[in-house]
Amino acid sequence: MTVHFIGAGPGAADLLTLRGRDLIARCPVCLYAGSLVPEEILAHCPPGARIVNTAPLALDAIVALLTAAHAQGQDVARLHSGDLSVWSAMGEQLRRLRAAGIPYTVTPGVPSFAAAAAALGAELTLPGVAQSVVLTRTSGRASPMPEGESLARFAATGATLAIHLSIHKLAEVAADLTPAYGADCPVAVVYRASWPDEKIVRATLATIAAAMGEGVERTALILVGRALAAEGFADSRLYAGDYDRRFRPATASGAPTEV
Ligand SMILES: C[S@@+](CC[C@H](N)C(=O)[O-])C[C@H]1O[C@@H](n2cnc3c(N)ncnc32)[C@H](O)[C@@H]1O
Repeated sequence: MTVHFIGAGPGAADLLTLRGRDLIARCPVCLYAGSLVPEEILAHCPPGARIVNTAPLALDAIVALLTAAHAQGQDVARLHSGDLSVWSAMGEQLRRLRAAGIPYTVTPGVPSFAAAAAALGAELTLPGVAQSVVLTRTSGRASPMPEGESLARFAATGATLAIHLSIHKLAEVAADLTPAYGADCPVAVVYRASWPDEKIVRATLATIAAAMGEGVERTALILVGRALAAEGFADSRLYAGDYDRRFRPATASGAPTEV
């Protein structure tokens, strides 16, 4: 018996890996983390599967369900939204499973920052503009930020920021970032990227709070950085004609190779 942790992606049901889909289809038990996992993904569960929404459950109760499935020899598909490597609460579940000697696997999913960038049609790392992306958040009621991980510190790098779990503090975020990025720095808020009701608001640090208005409280990403609106960046060296690299020596004709 194995617990399969599966990244269920950002929302659109077809942004699920084939591996994730096939594991879900094999498991007689499915635990999913609330409304951010779309119902169409649960439709991959086999007929008669036990399907449990864990949103209202505490960790002990979730671990009890995993332990009970283990005792009955039943594989479990454990679904979390987006990818599991960020803000999934997977770490604490894995620690309990290791202590109990229950085997598990981890299958990645499409993270929400990637879905948001896709919705914007944006590359977040443009040559000479930004070469790093910081996935971060602001402190929440239950999650203070570790010392040293302040927005102002990340802003000092000039990297593209993907700020999660913070849309309710949009004005504060913009104010914190303005000294480093400048009031005219581009910002995009992507609400429910890849869902049917996806919404995009583009503005600057000076105008984003007013442009966004009230109403969006959750499930939105704030992307900040010059890469969001840059046009005058250099081409990447990767495809430059005179760039010598392993699979395309500078002496090659440059004609496409068909397979
Ligand atoms: C608990 S975190 C989950 C992150 C998730 N594990 C991931 O890989 O993106 C929830 C936050 O992720 C962001 N988020 C998740 N899904 C989103 C989506 N479809 N569109 C925009 N932001 C999303 C929001 O900032 C939300 O507050």
